[in-house]
Amino acid sequence: MQTYLIDAVNLLLRWLHVIAAIAWIGESIYFVMLDNSLRTPKAEADRQKGIFGEMWAVHGGGFYHNQKYTTAPDKLPNDLHWSFWKAYTTWLSGFALFVILYMVNPGFYLINPDSPWQWAANMSGWQANLLALLFLLGGWVVYNQLCKRISPTMQRDGLLSIAVAVMMVVVAYLSTQLFGGRAAFLLTGAVMATAMSANVFFWIIPGQRRMVKAMKAGDAPNPLDGKRGKQRSVHNTYFTLPVVLLMVSNHYSFLYSHELAWVAMSLLIFAGAVIRQFFVLLHAGKRQWGYPAAGVVLVILAFWVASPDSQTADPSDRDTQVSDVGDNQIAGLIEEHCVQCHASNPEHAGFSAPPADYAFDDWDDILAHKAVIQQVVESRYMPLGNMTEMSDEERDTIAAWDE
Ligand code: HEC
Repeated sequence: MQTYLIDAVNLLLRWLHVIAAIAWIGESIYFVMLDNSLRTPKAEADRQKGIFGEMWAVHGGGFYHNQKYTTAPDKLPNDLHWSFWKAYTTWLSGFALFVILYMVNPGFYLINPDSPWQWAANMSGWQANLLALLFLLGGWVVYNQLCKRISPTMQRDGLLSIAVAVMMVVVAYLSTQLFGGRAAFLLTGAVMATAMSANVFFWIIPGQRRMVKAMKAGDAPNPLDGKRGKQRSVHNTYFTLPVVLLMVSNHYSFLYSHELAWVAMSLLIFAGAVIRQFFVLLHAGKRQWGYPAAGVVLVILAFWVASPDSQTADPSDRDTQVSDVGDNQIAGLIEEHCVQCHASNPEHAGFSAPPADYAFDDWDDILAHKAVIQQVVESRYMPLGNMTEMSDEERDTIAAWDE
């Protein structure tokens, strides 16, 4: 019953999280589009009023006329539309999901039993949970310091972008070494998503509040507040596509169970950013096909890196040579290492249904899923968190089954 309730809460949180993220990212994409679509106002009167750009649009059976002021109108209306709750809701629901999915079961998902660092492979559950939290917090602290130190007056934003890109490669590398594959992708996405929400919370919204306050008091707003908000908002723009990809990459074990997962992950992050760049320029009236072309090349490279063939798939490379693997031997290994979780009734292991819908307590089921069993065992994705301590020899035996 308890696992059933957790599953139900999980579904509801996921629903909320996806809806909030759609609303937030949708609005963010809309405003970037709006900003880049602005054209000099046609009417002289508008230009006199201090309007710097306008966009006409038709949507939902009506016509819209957006105008942007160079600085601000003479008098601010009281009912200004603010956007921040979508960002906060996305972060809060995402964090809650992380807690009930990962932190409740750190042994399954967070710990990386294959970590090259012994201390990381041997972490206890609460240590892994603590490390994951520090990872998220550390990501924000480093990113925020990079922004503040490299480009405090927004004059070295190009250099800052390079620094943030390098930081993401480091995050991708560290996450895959420290955490289980699935968690590594999710946590890298969460580092970016936390930076996005924290940008809104700590910089964009407070800066806007100061500007509004100054204007209401009849003072000129500090232009640095506006520029800084823009700098962080631009970062958020380029983070959106990669973050969504990292969040949904959860379902693709081939990607995150690979030894070079961090390289594939970095390439996909850059692919998302350059594809976003194409759309940003498109709204400004420029079609630069080089960007999506670069994005496609990066995606192809990422899949090439993650492909099983580029790993040592050559059977002669294996430490042990296995010949004549018998059905009994396979059945024994699966019984020992998989059926704990992949049983028709896995309630005792904390699952309300067989994980990923695979139950291996019947030989016919094992035979029917031979290919996928070999794939997940060879890529070391299963047994999950190597909870059942499958040895390399045993993995070789499964791989050599029927060769
Ligand atoms: C500790 C529990 C546990 C053990 C042990 C375990 N699995 Fe899994 N397995 C899971 C869970 C949970 C999932 C669902 C995917 C996820 O959450 O990552 C899963 C998913 C899978 C999938 C689907 C993968 C995909 O890409 O969707 C396969 C196939 C699989 N397991 C095979 C095995 C085999 C074969 C073994 C034994 C060598 C094994 N599992 C051992 C928990 C376990």
